[in-house]
Amino acid sequence: MNDLDSLVAAAHDAFAAASTPAELENAKARFLGKTGRVTELLKSLAALGADDKRARGAEINAIKQRIEAALQARRQALADAELEAQLHAEALDVTLPGRRRGSGGLHPVSRTMERIEAIFGSMGFDVAEGPEIENDWFNFTALNTPEDHPARSMHDTFYVEGGYLLRTHTSPMQVRHAVQHVKRHAGTDTMPEIRVIAPGRTYRVDSDATHSPMFHQCEGLWIGENVSFKDLKAVFADFFRHFFETDDLAIRFRPSFFPFTEPSAEVDIAFSSGPLKGRWLEVAGSGQVHPNVVRNFGLDPERHIGFAFGMGPDRLTMLRYGVNDLRLFFDNDLRFLSQFQ
Ligand code: DAH
Repeated sequence: MNDLDSLVAAAHDAFAAASTPAELENAKARFLGKTGRVTELLKSLAALGADDKRARGAEINAIKQRIEAALQARRQALADAELEAQLHAEALDVTLPGRRRGSGGLHPVSRTMERIEAIFGSMGFDVAEGPEIENDWFNFTALNTPEDHPARSMHDTFYVEGGYLLRTHTSPMQVRHAVQHVKRHAGTDTMPEIRVIAPGRTYRVDSDATHSPMFHQCEGLWIGENVSFKDLKAVFADFFRHFFETDDLAIRFRPSFFPFTEPSAEVDIAFSSGPLKGRWLEVAGSGQVHPNVVRNFGLDPERHIGFAFGMGPDRLTMLRYGVNDLRLFFDNDLRFLSQFQ
């Protein structure tokens, strides 16, 4: 092997030993750079005579081309290897099953709300919705709860600027709905009965296993010319038997106090079988609508009477599904929620 062939072999070895593009460019400089070995050979031509120069020059150019070709080949090989590594790192297993969009479902409390609406709907009740940011008049004063009334302190809530508050109960909807109803039928002799439920979110400063700062209520109101507690009892009996899908259920009215009803009662139910057998469970507040409230509806309490109630859909959901911590409903944990689908 002459000196030129061994130079080519040395370049091949050096290029092969370079494992990154930067190392390869360093190796290239050693052979083809300004002071590289091939360049030095070309410079040495200056000392030769014309014939020798031509012959030796042609040889040197030939090996220069071989070295450049070797460099090019190694560059390509390194680039291919890099691409290969990248493809490998980002490899997709196209045989994996696709990620499906989970099928959603109704929240258990929403299911309860739908059941409540369907059952009361079958008894001729309308469904009304109203604002969660309420004013003092509808939330308290119109419901016979003036500013200094002690019942207000049980309704500690979140106050919003401008005299508004997050409603502490759905009872303001009694007044809103009744006033609309009376307006709509003003000037006619016969006003249809008011029969409505108003489900929705309510707020209080309260938080433990059975209280959440945001919770649900469903208000009910039935006003006519001859509506009494007897009807209230029948409505509740019907409702709870349908809701819990059992006739093995007793209902009891326990005397209580609400500013907007007189008399007032808490409603308890007890199952005669199942895990809750024999325990009285409070499920609603109720009463005969107070004459002051009927007046605020725009009606004459001597002629228009009836009852109202407020129940807790969250509580009903807990009882129906046997859940003992209310907070589970609002943690948004899919492991819990998916059990209701
Ligand atoms: N608003 C009451 C509360 O949040 C519940 C209630 C009791 C509503 C009696 C009524 C009623 O309509 O007549 O505690």
